[in-house]
Amino acid sequence: MGQTKVLAHRGYSSQAPENTMAAFRLAAEADADGLELDVHLTKDGEVVVIHDETVKRTTGKKGRIRDLTLEEIRRLDAGSWFSESFNGEPIPTLDEVLSLAADKGLWLNIELKNNKIRYPGLEQAVLERLDRYGMAGRTVLSSFNHYSLRTVHELRPDIDTAILYMADLVEPWHYARHVGASSIHPYWPTARDEVVRGCHKAGLPVRPFTVNRQEEMRRLLHVSVEAIITDYVTRLLDERNAT
Ligand code: G3P
Ligand code: CA
Repeated sequence: MGQTKVLAHRGYSSQAPENTMAAFRLAAEADADGLELDVHLTKDGEVVVIHDETVKRTTGKKGRIRDLTLEEIRRLDAGSWFSESFNGEPIPTLDEVLSLAADKGLWLNIELKNNKIRYPGLEQAVLERLDRYGMAGRTVLSSFNHYSLRTVHELRPDIDTAILYMADLVEPWHYARHVGASSIHPYWPTARDEVVRGCHKAGLPVRPFTVNRQEEMRRLLHVSVEAIITDYVTRLLDERNAT
């Protein structure tokens, strides 16, 4: 079993505005193994990287992603809400992140935000881009919408897919297999030692989110989860070095 990977949640989001190229570059510079990011489809079918269904929280402007074109989205400032030093930081396209990841040898966890709003064709659009950048073998697609994961599995059974969940599921490895998913991404309090052990016995990698407290990092490193998704990249790297 390899060492636990450090995945930067929405990029290095404790140090830079989430889901921006600044946050992704900072994560790479800090030596994260990979990036977690959230994707939606624009009105004109582009895949963009943002957490919410609307641009309100991170740009201060009104509008849902699915009602805006890429050109309209690219004019927005997704940096200054975090700090003035990130003024004008745009909402990235998935292509930009794939290009960075391919260049730096990073792993990716792309979360399909197909939940509150359904985006027909999102899975296909993401898969096409993974192939274009040669990133299919270094990416896991996750979602809280498990039908979306089933769609990915039907289209491309070779791609790693992960069920995202918050509830304390009983024997989640059986459920993941039923969905057709190949890994589990549990909310960290539900990633109890026996759950991790059960998943490993069933051959399923476990990557809990979003782990920011040192004692939880330590416990999860100790049970050898495959990756930990965190806002605090350096804290987790230090903890891994000390283990
Ligand atoms: O992928 C794990 C985590 O990012 C899921 O929650 O709300 O941060 O997208 P959220
Ligand atoms: Ca996410």
